[in-house]
Amino acid sequence: MGEATIEAYYLEDRTFPPSDEFRRNALVSDDALHKEAEADWEGFWAGQARELVTWFKDFDTVLEWDLPFAKWFIGGTLNVSYNCLDRHVEAGRGDKVAYHWEGEPGDTRTITYADLLDEVSRFANVLKSLGVQKGDRVAIYLPMIPELPVAMLACARIGAPHSVVFGGFSADALRGRIIDAEAKVLITADGGWRRGSAVPLKVSADEALEGTSTIEHVVVVRRTEEDVPFTEGRDRWYDELMRDADGDCPPEHMDAEDLLYLLYTSGTTAKPKGIMHTTGGYLTHAAFTHKYVFDLHPDTDVYWCGADIGWVTGHSYIVYGPLANGATSVIYEGSPDTPGKDRLWAIAEKYGVTILYTAPTAIRTFMKWGTEFPESHDLSKLRVLGSVGEPINPEAWVWYWQHIGGARCPVVDTWWQTETGGIMISPLPGVTTLKPGSATFPLPGIGAEVVDEQGNKIERGGGYLTLTRPWPGMLRGIYGDPERYKQTYWSRFEGRYFAGDGCKIDDDGYFWLLGRIDDVMNISGHRVSTTEVESALVDDQNVAEAAVVGAKDETTGQAIIAYVTLRGSVEPSDDRGEQLREHVAKKIGKFGRPKTIIFTDDLPKTRSGKIMRRLLKDVAEGRDLGDTTTLADPAVVDEIKKRAQQSPQED
Ligand code: WT7
Repeated sequence: MGEATIEAYYLEDRTFPPSDEFRRNALVSDDALHKEAEADWEGFWAGQARELVTWFKDFDTVLEWDLPFAKWFIGGTLNVSYNCLDRHVEAGRGDKVAYHWEGEPGDTRTITYADLLDEVSRFANVLKSLGVQKGDRVAIYLPMIPELPVAMLACARIGAPHSVVFGGFSADALRGRIIDAEAKVLITADGGWRRGSAVPLKVSADEALEGTSTIEHVVVVRRTEEDVPFTEGRDRWYDELMRDADGDCPPEHMDAEDLLYLLYTSGTTAKPKGIMHTTGGYLTHAAFTHKYVFDLHPDTDVYWCGADIGWVTGHSYIVYGPLANGATSVIYEGSPDTPGKDRLWAIAEKYGVTILYTAPTAIRTFMKWGTEFPESHDLSKLRVLGSVGEPINPEAWVWYWQHIGGARCPVVDTWWQTETGGIMISPLPGVTTLKPGSATFPLPGIGAEVVDEQGNKIERGGGYLTLTRPWPGMLRGIYGDPERYKQTYWSRFEGRYFAGDGCKIDDDGYFWLLGRIDDVMNISGHRVSTTEVESALVDDQNVAEAAVVGAKDETTGQAIIAYVTLRGSVEPSDDRGEQLREHVAKKIGKFGRPKTIIFTDDLPKTRSGKIMRRLLKDVAEGRDLGDTTTLADPAVVDEIKKRAQQSPQED
């Protein structure tokens, strides 16, 4: 057994077993699934693939594993859009609502499975009429409108891999992705609504297309109805094309390992990686995890994942997982504070949402706004809450559990990545005794271990999170760059997938994610996770949100710098700073105490809500700031820079 590599100091000892009532109605309420999978994990996944997915032709080989290249369900053929749409309609569930959609200006659409099948089939024919063939890549740059899942499913229907680019990305980012994927068609909109203004997507799309050579047509959805530049011949209106389109488009029979989509994600170099997800394994993983992690009862649940479809969370848990499982979901355009800070709770009440899946950053924002917003709505239908995207600090977890879930709903903290395709480490809500801040255990069929610097397995304590065996939803590679795929994920520890995350195992075997490895600080030879210090800070009742970075320090290697946002009416002061430093010292130890606390009204975040630690590090180390275009609010940077200069350094 190896030595603990990352020391873990933060102790959270509250536990939350599932209630008897929840257990009684849960899909799984004992360890049968875990046991079955441990006995024969390949056989387990084969069983799930046959149970949850409809195959045109059954597969003959479950897995071919030529490390690091995996092929799942070889010989099987299927179509993802058939699985998400046709089979539900054929089974008489055509009138079931697939999506309740809420636009930001207050417009709404209710879309049944039959409606969705019709629209997808027509758009699939539109794509064919524009020359898109099986294997051609299609870029999608849309706001959160129903045409986004329609476009994705239409691509899946004809076997054209999609590359969805989040609508908050710049023209430059879109251009790079189009070039890398050599996309043939781009689907975009005139714009989308966000906080009362029209985001001009078509203008950005046109800018992106300068300098690309592969796009033959641009399909434009009318959303904001603003005047947009239009290139005759190349550009076509979605509604005009759809008017003449045939509603019958037989689904292409795809090989289990055919490419379903590319999704670009950033790594340690400037060039984003085109993460490749294929058909049969991905759909199996998305459907399995969506069903069991959220304890989905498709006839009674109303499920809502608040992510944007432009991120992997939306791909797997707004589009493919929920539709494969025949769920009724909510989708919304806009942001949680427009028209009011109760937007989410008003929508949840309106549709009787039973399952809510959101991110810690959103939860901490709701904490900051105060309980009056959720309290002004009836959230009593909620029964399962989920969290994803970053480690959730115990205080935010407990706040979510209490103020959104009414101290009644299990909170499933789900660890996974763009690369994993679906959830990997998570509680099963009817089985697992929860600990706030822990993603608990690997799901059935998943192999995860924590290792030390040398790659030796650690049974207790901190180290690096690795995955020990292939899983159906795993990335099949980086588009066009197999060498980078090997290097990035499979070279650090022999025979293991390296996730890039720190993790500790507690005395009960629970997994506690500690953030990215580059978020791990080294203070006087002690490794301390930024997440642990943040949790300790947010544990203080006056703190709404905190971000911690390790800045270079002559004496201690790195010094802990904390950026702190206080709750509502609490005023920053030197005394407050000192008190917080002591609070952290108490929670973690003196070496975990921040050297400097910088109070700020807001933290710089990417549009997906991740705190931009690198930027905070740059500020802390007095370097020039780099590219900040993905900031939620660029003004925050200047504010932080100013504050950083004013804050006296502690000894
Ligand atoms: C990274 C992956 C998974 C979809 C959204 C993010 C962090 C994600 C958790 C969690 C602690 C988490 C990890 C991971 N992360 N979920 N429940 N607890 N950390 O996808 O952009 O590919 O980011 O997000 O650091 O490596 P992504």
